[in-house]
Amino acid sequence: MLKITFSPKNLTEISEKYCRLVLTEDSTNWHRLVETADGRLEYRMGAGKWSDITPRTFRTLIRSVVQAAKSHQIEKLAIDFATMSFPKLQTYGEKWLASTIVENLLLANYEFKTYKTKKDKKKVFAEVVFFGEISNEAKSGFKRGEIIGQTINQGREIANTPACDLTPKHLGEISEKMAKEAKFSVQVLGEKELKKLKMGALLAVGQGTKVETKMIVAEYWGAGKSAGKNISEDKKPIVLIGKGITFDSGGLNVKPSGFMHDMHLDMSGGASVLSAIASVAKLGLKKNVVALIPAAENAISDDAMRAGDIVTAMNGKTIEILHTDAEGRMILADALTYSERYNPKVILDVATLTGAALVALGQQASAIMTKDNDLSRKLCELGEESGDLVWPLPLWDEYKASLKSHRADISNIATNFSRFAGSIEGGTFLSFFAPKDVPWAHIDIAPRMDSIPSDKLAKGATGEPVRLLVRFVEES
Ligand code: BES
Ligand code: MN
Ligand code: ZN
Repeated sequence: MLKITFSPKNLTEISEKYCRLVLTEDSTNWHRLVETADGRLEYRMGAGKWSDITPRTFRTLIRSVVQAAKSHQIEKLAIDFATMSFPKLQTYGEKWLASTIVENLLLANYEFKTYKTKKDKKKVFAEVVFFGEISNEAKSGFKRGEIIGQTINQGREIANTPACDLTPKHLGEISEKMAKEAKFSVQVLGEKELKKLKMGALLAVGQGTKVETKMIVAEYWGAGKSAGKNISEDKKPIVLIGKGITFDSGGLNVKPSGFMHDMHLDMSGGASVLSAIASVAKLGLKKNVVALIPAAENAISDDAMRAGDIVTAMNGKTIEILHTDAEGRMILADALTYSERYNPKVILDVATLTGAALVALGQQASAIMTKDNDLSRKLCELGEESGDLVWPLPLWDEYKASLKSHRADISNIATNFSRFAGSIEGGTFLSFFAPKDVPWAHIDIAPRMDSIPSDKLAKGATGEPVRLLVRFVEES
């Protein structure tokens, strides 16, 4: 793991083992590794015109530093923190700046190597020292960034783990371990309890395998525990719900080859809400947060749910399963109903829900759907600020008609099998289960499930939208 330190010393007092990073106003593809007259290595890197640097390009720049350090086998890097201030970043403040730097250093440095049996012979990028005068505000930003960056990488490791090793049970055990480490509580409900709760939709999705379906319930009461109907507004918890499909074969409506191999990542939403509550706890925020992860494997067997089956969800609504690959919305439906008991201030669900979200947005941003315009605006703004970009799609009542089932209360896909507005269809289905009168937003993270080269992250889980969720909790 990359070690982040700071030192009030100036460069000449810092060991020569550290290569110095020098940003220049050259174009961003320009770079040189040089030895200076005093025998020190210096990595000079173009950052583009300083007046052009925005939060977006800055994050990419920081990630490029890591890529460069790795390719040049630089082990230790020294950065003058004072040179990291650029005109357009000023309004965000030093805490944001320091946190952003550290988050992105850590995110870019992570690689999924757990299943590689040969050790890399390359020197590893091991340490960054920020030297020079550093304000207390910046220091608290470094600390924040370190906590968030590390915790996101924990989540990425969980998401990247193949389904043979990451079952719902195992996800529950990891959650318990993280809870101990970060000081929040976790309870893992098994099938017996889920049956008692009448979570017929969640159980149906998981019924095709001997791997047990679970519901992971994590609670963090940073503002003081509260219960009952008449709790004060500031003690109502923010409820985060994350889709925890540990493998999505599609079920009997099996996925075609080429579309199944990365479906161990279908619990990325679950991993992200777990990382988010762990980050909030480690940061010691005085906020109440509950994370719910319905976890199941969507498998194929003679016990699997069938197309045409009708099941009863926890809220009593009957669902006609028209497509077994639309399983995410079913498990989230019961989690949404379950969230009601917490009297939530706001509910955010995070799910790799639809391939259609990639059709709409490409792999650049997650889609958000909510009827609450203030919530929508807030999520977009905090997304821009944190780096976890989100973009709205409508959730109008007009879309509800397509889900009106002939045989049950609601069908899990459009009854005419139309593929139009697939992401909105998913969000609309969920709207039937979201508690009434509670602000709620659905975040479809399918576009950000797997990284793309321009992210400058290792292939696999991106760890999004944890930075957004943490900012959201901070601001709530
Ligand atoms: N987990 C998938 C969605 C997905 C697809 C995420 C690609 C990331 C990349 C989800 O369970 C699913 O299969 N959705 C279907 C819905 C359809 C049957 C209405 C889809 O997108 O095809
Ligand atoms: Mn599916
Ligand atoms: Zn899925």
